[in-house]
Amino acid sequence: MYDHLTIVDHPLVQHKLSLMREKGTQSAVFRQLLREISQLLAYEVTRELPMITQEIETPIQKMDTPVLAGKKLALVSILRAGNGLLDGILELIPLARVGFVGLYRDEETLKPVQYYFKVPEDLGDRLVIAVDPMLATGNSSAAAIDLLKQAGATNIRFLCLLAAPEGVARMKEAHPDVPIITAALDEKLNENGYIVPGLGDAGDRMFGTK
Ligand code: URA
Repeated sequence: MYDHLTIVDHPLVQHKLSLMREKGTQSAVFRQLLREISQLLAYEVTRELPMITQEIETPIQKMDTPVLAGKKLALVSILRAGNGLLDGILELIPLARVGFVGLYRDEETLKPVQYYFKVPEDLGDRLVIAVDPMLATGNSSAAAIDLLKQAGATNIRFLCLLAAPEGVARMKEAHPDVPIITAALDEKLNENGYIVPGLGDAGDRMFGTK
């Protein structure tokens, strides 16, 4: 069973994250590192997926072998930076269903505003993994989880690259049933809502905007 917060302190994750934090890292390298880390985090977040036994036949003989049970899981990207995590995880779990939640952060209030919502059917029957690299204030993450629950999701995990203590606390208050899996818990938020020391704006760094 997951604790509310799991920090994946694997050396490969930590090394790649350090490279991503470095301000001189170019967008193409940043995206590639995010893709690689996303797969390592996905390995962790799917650790307890239920399995069933299925009979197959190897070239040598029949055997009972474990395969994933139940409906295909749903990956939900919180736009736009979530797509950087989504792409890598989809390579690892190509049959996953995919949803998108579009929320932008009002720069003055730091509150989330919804502009897009499209998710797979039968969310209630699936493990739903919501992905967003940066858990900062937690406002948009908590709002995204609200929307997923309204759409029927009951078994949700939140996967991010970096978390701030403020965001973790906000999520625990709003959604204590949703475990958070992250590569690092940073120190704090600054007055503009950025994670400190963080890595800057994940979307801008991925896409070379700003
Ligand atoms: N979103 C980002 O991309 N970076 C932060 O530091 C906080 C929110």
